[in-house]
Amino acid sequence: MTALPSLIGPLLLALPLAAAAFGPAPEGAPAPTAAPPAAAPPLSPERERLGEELFGRNCQLCHNSRGKGGKGPQLVRGAWGPGGANGDEVMVEIIRKGRPGTQMGGFGGALSDEEIRTVVAFLRAESRRVQAAERKAADADFVPW
Ligand code: HEC
Repeated sequence: MTALPSLIGPLLLALPLAAAAFGPAPEGAPAPTAAPPAAAPPLSPERERLGEELFGRNCQLCHNSRGKGGKGPQLVRGAWGPGGANGDEVMVEIIRKGRPGTQMGGFGGALSDEEIRTVVAFLRAESRRVQAAERKAADADFVPW
């Protein structure tokens, strides 16, 4: 057992070195370059609630609860669904300017850009839930025997 202490010595020395090598970046290191603004900022639960509230107050009357359509068209399926033809910017533009000559008025005066984007983010989250629910319903219909 006489060889043990001489082994432990170098090991103890090596530990802090290893910690330094894998630890946090030293102070003064260049910060990671900021990513360009993402097309769809992450939807926090607070933001989603705000989006739902804004939608409820401003849009629900015509687009029904959760964007499923009524007097106005649905906003969560097909071209408005996940990966659909109408991107966020298309939606933001329509909401901001409205559709002249229809009941769809412009909300550019009533809602800030940030609020419009929050409504869009809520509708996007809603459309993903609708898609997931429909996929589940389709799976339930599929009987493999
Ligand atoms: C007074 C009723 C009314 C309200 C309130 C309203 N909309 Fe609409 N919206 C409509 C109608 C009607 C259309 C269809 C217009 C047309 O014929 O092109 C429409 C169209 C749209 C479209 C385009 C849909 C498509 O398939 O072309 C979007 C997106 C939309 N509305 C979003 C919203 C949002 C978001 C709000 C709330 C901020 C809102 N709307 C409030 C009535 C309304």
